[in-house]
Amino acid sequence: MWRIAKKEQVIPKTLQDVIATHEFRIDTLDGELNRVLGGGIVAGSLILVGGQPGIGKSTLLLQLAMKLNKKILYVSGEESEAQIKMRADRIGVTNSACFIYTEVNVSQILKEATQLQPDIIIVDSIQTLMSPFIDSTPGSISQVRECTGELQRFAKETNIPIFIIGHITKEGGIAGPKLLEHIVDVVLQFEGDQHYAYRILRTLKNRFGSTDEIGIYAMDSNGLSEVSNPSELLISPDDTHLSGSAIAASLEGLRPLLLETQALVSPAIYGTPQRSATGFDLRRLSMLLAVLEKRCGLPFGQNDVFLNIAGGLKVSDPSVDLAIVAALISSLQDIHISKKLCFAGEVGLSGEIRPVSRIDQRIQEAGRLGFETIFISKYKSEIVTGKNFGVEVRTLSRIEDLLREVFG
Ligand code: TYD
Ligand code: MG
Repeated sequence: MWRIAKKEQVIPKTLQDVIATHEFRIDTLDGELNRVLGGGIVAGSLILVGGQPGIGKSTLLLQLAMKLNKKILYVSGEESEAQIKMRADRIGVTNSACFIYTEVNVSQILKEATQLQPDIIIVDSIQTLMSPFIDSTPGSISQVRECTGELQRFAKETNIPIFIIGHITKEGGIAGPKLLEHIVDVVLQFEGDQHYAYRILRTLKNRFGSTDEIGIYAMDSNGLSEVSNPSELLISPDDTHLSGSAIAASLEGLRPLLLETQALVSPAIYGTPQRSATGFDLRRLSMLLAVLEKRCGLPFGQNDVFLNIAGGLKVSDPSVDLAIVAALISSLQDIHISKKLCFAGEVGLSGEIRPVSRIDQRIQEAGRLGFETIFISKYKSEIVTGKNFGVEVRTLSRIEDLLREVFG
């Protein structure tokens, strides 16, 4: 149980006089969640979990409430007690010290919380709460802001950490998370494609840790499970020998991630060639095609081009360029690329292969996963020469080198 922080008189101090306290953290027993929180839940912190409806926010936090051996107050303004019970049954674990409370009045909630003295409070969702002090409807900007402010004060006074769920729309807007980012201590965003099992929990703000962390989960019929080795799941087995796919040694936040890029290039029969990209920026694809056409004379202009990042992932890391270019050439020329090869490099406008950040980590991950060869930029490659990563490192300076070395 948390101690109620004593109200002492605050006076200005120099930094020497401030006593550094090691902040206390609760282990969530979930490696991915611990990682994005920077090592567990900090006492008295207010943590916003945002994401589109249906992505799995309630599941994530109910699962946390059920798995932790702590006293939890789970407030829901979204679902009935019976609905929550059904969800908990799917998850399959129960915590006899988890209290479900379907209430939307924030004063009432805090009164109940003061009585119960839980270790953690979870509020699902901020858009359903209402403060009696504000005369507008739940979900409106002023209500959302006021309720969050009240929760923040309560968390700081009692040292009880509070998770709040906030919906964001596809456009990322509405009265909700965006508005609250400066009030709360931590902002986590849960994202993914509903048609795929993978979910990424990303740290957008963290007063107690790094914002480069991500957690990866898979949603199945029993809730969310941690994915500690995502690369192994994102790459399909190499038994088909089909053309058009290449593996990128990418990075999500600070985390190396090997993923499969897939291209289909086929003659454009109906006039204007089509270009389509899933999980990758369409303009960047057009740029890469123009570079291939101009520098290598490859006839993409007469072809439809479809590009896909496997697993429903969205990538913005420029290091995937090289794998995408390889997948495009592979499909155009119908030449299979072995899945023992992977690529990490940005492609510039004149067809040069540019170096990418944290190359040693990417190479290390490729080695760990048993790849035979990784292709990287020749520039700045000195930093990795002479080191043994358990994978052969080959360097390229231009796209023409890729054509020669891989497609020979
Ligand atoms: P939910 O947590 O309700 O999303 P949010 O709170 O972000 O709106 O998750 C909704 C989806 O997750 C729903 O489509 C059903 C699916 N789901 C599973 O696939 N397996 C499960 O075990 C659970 C509980 C939900
Ligand atoms: Mg929900």
